[in-house]
Formats: sequence, structure tokens, C-alpha cells
Amino acid sequence: ERFYDFVVVSNRLPVDSVVGGDGRQRWTQSPGGLVAALEPVMQSRDGAWVGWPGQADLDLEPFDTDGMHLVPVPLSALEVEHYYEGFSNDTLWPLYHDVIAAPSFHREWWDTYRLVNTRFADRTAEVAAQGGLVWVQDYQLQLVPKLLRELRPDLTIGFFDHIPFPPYGLFSQLPWRTQVVEGLLGADVVGFQRDADAGNFQQAVRRLKGYATKGSHIEVPLVDTSPGVRVYGPIKRGQASRTVIAKKFPISIDAAFYREAAARPDIRARARQIRGDLGNPKTIMLGVDRLDYTKGIRHRLEAYGELLAEGRVNPEEVILVQVASPSRERVLSYMQLRDEIELTVGRINGDYSEIGHQAISYHHQNYPRDEMVALYLAADVMLVTALRDGMNLVAKEYVASRFDSDGVLVLSEFAGASDELTRAVLVNPHDIDGLKDAIMAAIELPARERESRMRYLRKRVFENDVEKWSSGFLHVLVHHHAIVASASASASA
Ligand code: G6P
Repeated sequence: ERFYDFVVVSNRLPVDSVVGGDGRQRWTQSPGGLVAALEPVMQSRDGAWVGWPGQADLDLEPFDTDGMHLVPVPLSALEVEHYYEGFSNDTLWPLYHDVIAAPSFHREWWDTYRLVNTRFADRTAEVAAQGGLVWVQDYQLQLVPKLLRELRPDLTIGFFDHIPFPPYGLFSQLPWRTQVVEGLLGADVVGFQRDADAGNFQQAVRRLKGYATKGSHIEVPLVDTSPGVRVYGPIKRGQASRTVIAKKFPISIDAAFYREAAARPDIRARARQIRGDLGNPKTIMLGVDRLDYTKGIRHRLEAYGELLAEGRVNPEEVILVQVASPSRERVLSYMQLRDEIELTVGRINGDYSEIGHQAISYHHQNYPRDEMVALYLAADVMLVTALRDGMNLVAKEYVASRFDSDGVLVLSEFAGASDELTRAVLVNPHDIDGLKDAIMAAIELPARERESRMRYLRKRVFENDVEKWSSGFLHVLVHHHAIVASASASASA
């Protein structure tokens, strides 16, 4: 087996193994922003990607696809249930997203989480070259940095958290909070989406470990002298320590891909065809989300339903296209959400659709990226109403696709993207009246105002694309590690 100087580790590989209705196995592109962001990074570097192939009991040899070297980590059906559906998506996901849904705490889920994190660390240790760079991703693998450092102290280890890091008042509910913090502190650099996330993590470090933080730097003693004991204040003088950097690196998209796709005649023709198929309405509104309770789909539907009921929106002139891609379908809160959303869509359509014209065009499906660009081009108003979201790359994809500098982005202030996309129509999605007013303002925004806002948003997205995100993170990681290495070399000399 070959060794790699650069290794990315994430729960999911960029391709998912799925078994079709005909019983045959095939590969599809994995869902979510993490894969969308890392795929171009990996295609431009000669590295290995360690991850789960998306299906239980699938034990595969490493293989190459789309210019990437993939190293599969197998999970049993029970591990999928306890580690992925359970601890990752029914404990951490709701806890880290403001407890929009109630998190469940189960000790056997935690045990499996630890076990699976160990397996990821072991596999990574086997493929990483001496002195190599490893970049661990997201909440499913928070213990990997520490486990990997114990196995391979020669490695430079980065971690990036794609989702929010919760305020201490919520994080402290987690029975295994100290182990999680210790796991993350195994990295040299811990990256977050927003300043607030990095600040929340630092606070957890201070409260649970008593380590001092200064700016983005955390001093971690090399020998933890306080197992299980809370020690406040600075490390004792003379005690050896390492510095961990915790700061924000807002993630982005392959903006050039969207610009180029949006310029393609076939995709533009498809956008016109979509408008035509929808009956050439005056206004097309669009929502694109994984079907997840963090995305605020219910709030969006409620606002739209009320606007229709009050006659502020004429169903003959406006249509809402909602793409809700299937996600985590075996987790109860996701099943319940699907039922609620589909009931609401059915009611709104029942009340306001005409033969040949729907109020909501609803799609519980996954579309290829080209089709998404056509949809973005066809949409006059893009609705991103997340109740909490690490970044939200859909907002950035919409902006990057609008080569015509037209279209209005309605964006939740609870999505990380609102830190940069400040000239979107910003909303608090919990405030249904405010959301309704924002939707009306977006529909009625004059062309000149649309253009000036979209130009600003495009500038921000093209300035900060995914290449800048990854090279920015890796630069800090390599640079920091070099400083730490030379400091410890001179200390031991
Ligand atoms: C979010 C998470 C990713 C995850 C993706 C899709 O973007 O940050 O880690 O991969 O959702 O969710 P799934 O559970 O299908 O991997």
C-alpha cells in the first residue's frame, strides 16, 4: 500500500454506494456541503480520502475515482445505527444546532462512537506518510485528532468543524463533553465556520480543562496533570505545553464551476424550459435543502401559506419550487419532519393550486449539479431560512450562478453565510411576520436594487471561494506546525 503526504478524513466518502430497485449496486455523489467543498480540493491535490462508503457491511479495498484516491472504512449495520444515526445525528447534530430537536443521550451510542472513531484513526495512521498532513472533518469524528496523535505523533493534524459549535450552556449537557474537547485538542489547528463557534469552543476548553486561551491560541499542557479534575488558570510555569489554534475559516464553494455552468447555452436553455414548464409565472421562488429540521422549511411554508391566505401573494403569479433532498431517513425526527412538510405542502396546494398551476412544486429528490444551476438561474427569489446552519453553501451557489446579477437572496441570519453575504435580505425565520415582509420585499425589489445587492454578493463569493478556504486553512496548519516543531527542537537542544 502507498503512503500519502496529504490525507482527508471524513465520515462520508465523496461517493455513496446505493442499491437500486433492481438490486444492483451503483455509486452516486454524496449529499451535503462537506463533500461539495472538499471534492475540488482533493481533485487538485494528490492525497487520499479516508471515509465510509455510505452503506452498512461494505468492506472494500481502496480505489480511485474522479482523480481521487479513496480509502473506505467499513461500518456494520449496528455501527451505522449507533454511531451514525444515533450519536452523530440524534445526539450531536441536534445539540450542536441549538437543540431545535431534542438530543438523545445513550451510553451505548457513545461507546460505538468511540469505537468507530478509533477505527478511522487506525486506518488513517496506516495510509499517512511519515511527517504527513492529515485533515479531519466534522462532528462525526471529533475524537480522531487525539487518537491519531497518540498513534502517530509525527503527523500534522488539522480539524474542521462544518457545523456550529454550541454555546457552553448547551454543550455542557453532553455527558461526554470533556472527552470531545480533549479529542479536538489533539489537532494543531481546529477550524470553525464563524467567530462565534470558535469562541464557544474556547469557552468549553476554559471551563472543562482550565487551559488558558489568548486570541485564537490555546495552551495545552503536554502532560495533563489534572485527570478528571478541573483546574482553572494558566499552566504552571515551566510545564511543557503545545499551542492549539482555534479560529474561523469560513467554507465556500467552487465558484468558478457555477459561473461557467451558468454560462453554458444548454443550462440556460434548461432554465428557460423550467420557467416555461412552470407556466412562465411572474415570480419563481426557490428553496433547496436537505430535508432537515435545521433548514427552516416549515417556517418558510408557513410564511408562504399565510401570504397566500391573506391575498398578499397571488397564486397565479408566484410559485414556490421546493427541492428537499432525502436525508437520514431512518432517524425518527427526520421521518416526522417529512410527514409534517408533506402534509403542509399538500394543504397549501389543495387550497391554492389550479389545474395546470401549482402553488408549490415540491420535489423529494436529488438533482445533478447542472440541473441545480438551471434552477438557480430560473429562480427570481432564493429562500434560505435555516434556523441554524454552519455555513449554508446553497446560498453561495445561488449567488455564484447569477451571472446576470439579478435575483434576490433571502438569507437567515442564523446561517454562517450571513456573516459574509450581508447584502442579502436578512431574516430571522422564527419571526413569521418578519419573514413574510422579507419575502414581499424580495418579490417587489426594484431591478437596480437587485443588481447592486447581487453584485456585492458575487464579489464576496468570488473573493472567498473554496480554494481560498482550503489553502488558507492548510497554510495556517503547516506554518503553525513548523513553528511548534522548531520551538520544541530548540527546547530539547
Ligand atoms: C452536513 C454535514 C456533513 C454531512 C452532510 C450530509 O453538511 O456537515 O458532515 O455529510 O450534512 O449528511 P449525511 O448524514 O447524509 O452525511
